[in-house]
Amino acid sequence: MSKPRGSWGSQLGFILAAAGSAIGLGNIWRFPYMTGENGGAAFVVIYIVCVIIIGLPIMVAELAIGRHTEKNPVGAFQKLAPRSGWFLVGLLGVVTGIGILSYYAVIAGWTVGYLVKTLTGSFSVQMTPETSKEIFTSFVKHPLNSIICLFAFLALTAYVVIGGVSKGIERWSKILMPTLFIMLILLTLRSVTLPGAVAGLKFYLQPDFTAISLTTFAKALGQALFSLSLGMGAMITYGSYIRKEENLPISAAWVCLSDLSVALIAGLMIFPALFAMGINPQEGAGLVFVVLPTIFAKIPGGLIFGSGFFLLLVVAALTSTISLLEVVVAFLVDQYRWSRRKAVVSMSALAFLLGIPSALSFGASTWFSQLPLIGKGFLDLANIILGNYSLIFGSLLIAIFVSYKWGLQAVEKEVMREGNVFYFRITWAFLIRYITPFAILAIFVYIIVTKNYF
Ligand code: TRP
Repeated sequence: MSKPRGSWGSQLGFILAAAGSAIGLGNIWRFPYMTGENGGAAFVVIYIVCVIIIGLPIMVAELAIGRHTEKNPVGAFQKLAPRSGWFLVGLLGVVTGIGILSYYAVIAGWTVGYLVKTLTGSFSVQMTPETSKEIFTSFVKHPLNSIICLFAFLALTAYVVIGGVSKGIERWSKILMPTLFIMLILLTLRSVTLPGAVAGLKFYLQPDFTAISLTTFAKALGQALFSLSLGMGAMITYGSYIRKEENLPISAAWVCLSDLSVALIAGLMIFPALFAMGINPQEGAGLVFVVLPTIFAKIPGGLIFGSGFFLLLVVAALTSTISLLEVVVAFLVDQYRWSRRKAVVSMSALAFLLGIPSALSFGASTWFSQLPLIGKGFLDLANIILGNYSLIFGSLLIAIFVSYKWGLQAVEKEVMREGNVFYFRITWAFLIRYITPFAILAIFVYIIVTKNYF
């Protein structure tokens, strides 16, 4: 008969693993440049609202679905809504997960490359923003570099996931997450004490609400779902390993709070440093790779802070790629009785193959760098479709599912198992039924109609 499924050893273990999934490049790399491009502090305010009224309720819903069914996303929907099309929501999630993994690991791979570069002293004292840009461009353009880094990162991810839920994912999260918090705090203290940091703090903390539009809401929502790992069943999967006596809303709140704090602190780390060096915050996706090395080159102890920073990114990205891989692994293990090892090896190999076009989309292949008709690179396109549209659509369907199909009472019963208190139960029910789905729907229709993500 089937082996017992894994489970988290403790509530703290789960919180660290789920926070590890949530906290990633999304917080430290994507959040600062999205904030920079979308008006600074005003974006931050809208982002926080999205986390609280959309992210948190969906997180509770996903965890409840997972724990109740003890299944991967496809199995979970099959169990709750047999003989219906709802399992397709889970399938969309599994496919989205491996797709996100494929391009996310490319950028995660760069962080490994940059860690090595920093340690070997590639960033010299004389470096200007221009030379830094050249180093970055030629690094990401080099086909073999990117592909080797991609491979290395997926191998690392596979190594942890093969270990299983408590002995692999949980054990590593317990080591990696505290490391991440400490490094983040040290780097932030360094950044805010640089001469000239105040202008950056102003940009980041003083909202100018004239700069916002509906697009700002759409971007903030996409960012929140991506950052919290919602909308594709990662939290259903992680929820399926939670023991019945654990309090779900409390765990969900801890995960959201730590994810939000890390994003907010990452902003405190990046913007003062940018303004101190006189660099434009609208630099875009290259922000942390181009800008920060110029700063590390100039400050005392730059080698240590620089290596610390890229190690921070590696750690953050690793606990996230682990969760992306775990979703498809759980799917194959539950549904098709594959061994964990076989699922891990074959799915990371698949992610590697799917990641190659993304790895080549920064100049190595002209075709993938600028797709015909679309004019965007492959990685950008994958990120728009999978990292935005699919997560927004998936979250919408999950909110509808728990409110109108599975039922709020069923969720409440699951949460209140073993005498647990459902804090803010009425608020949660109101949000997930009347606010969350309609807010997401409005934004989804808006981005489809205006094509504002393209
Ligand atoms: N949340 C992670 C980040 O911010 C990325 C991530 C991991 C993710 N698992 C996910 C995003 C599942 C969406 C869905 O970097």
